[in-house]
Amino acid sequence: MENATQNWEQMTYPFFNLTLNYSLHALEPHINAKTMCAHYDRLLATYINNLNQILETRLDLQNMTLIELIDYAETNRDINLRRQAGGVYNHFFFFTELRPATGQIIIGITPQATQKITATFGGWKTFKEQFANAALSVFGSGYAWLVKNNKGELRITTTANQNVPQECTPILCIDVWEHAYYLQHLNERQAYIDAFWHVVDWVKFSERI
Ligand SMILES: [Fe+2]
Repeated sequence: MENATQNWEQMTYPFFNLTLNYSLHALEPHINAKTMCAHYDRLLATYINNLNQILETRLDLQNMTLIELIDYAETNRDINLRRQAGGVYNHFFFFTELRPATGQIIIGITPQATQKITATFGGWKTFKEQFANAALSVFGSGYAWLVKNNKGELRITTTANQNVPQECTPILCIDVWEHAYYLQHLNERQAYIDAFWHVVDWVKFSERI
């Protein structure tokens, strides 16, 4: 399971939920167990089940990774496959970039990561403000992302629904569907974004950037 959790981007049919490196109450008080049960245990499981159901009779798609399935769905305008595979990809990305709060918000960040953030955004404060503004700007359901393009340049972007960022490598995302925060923060997306920073795995972030 440990390997599957680390290598989920290589996973193919049948998809299964990841064993996270933290328990469902480990992100409290920033993301509570009730939210994690609804979001990780139930909602993500539904996306996985739906995706497996689609693939059950599609032998031609069973060796594809999530990104390959998403590309296939885009090319073939298969909206349902696109939604389910995107939902699994985005949630796997989100839940594996988190870790229990340590009390030190930016512990684990490498000097190289700080250098890149500073070079692009002027510093952590500005980066977090711009990322939060992007997350707040998502109308309805979606995600905000920090990504790097083919030249290694950082940029902040957003995706609607279960779309994934195109032609870039994701580094960080925040799920801003209401299901990610309404059980704890009601409709206060800003409060959820503030809490999110406490549970980002900055070691993983630094490896990706
Ligand atoms: Fe979600």
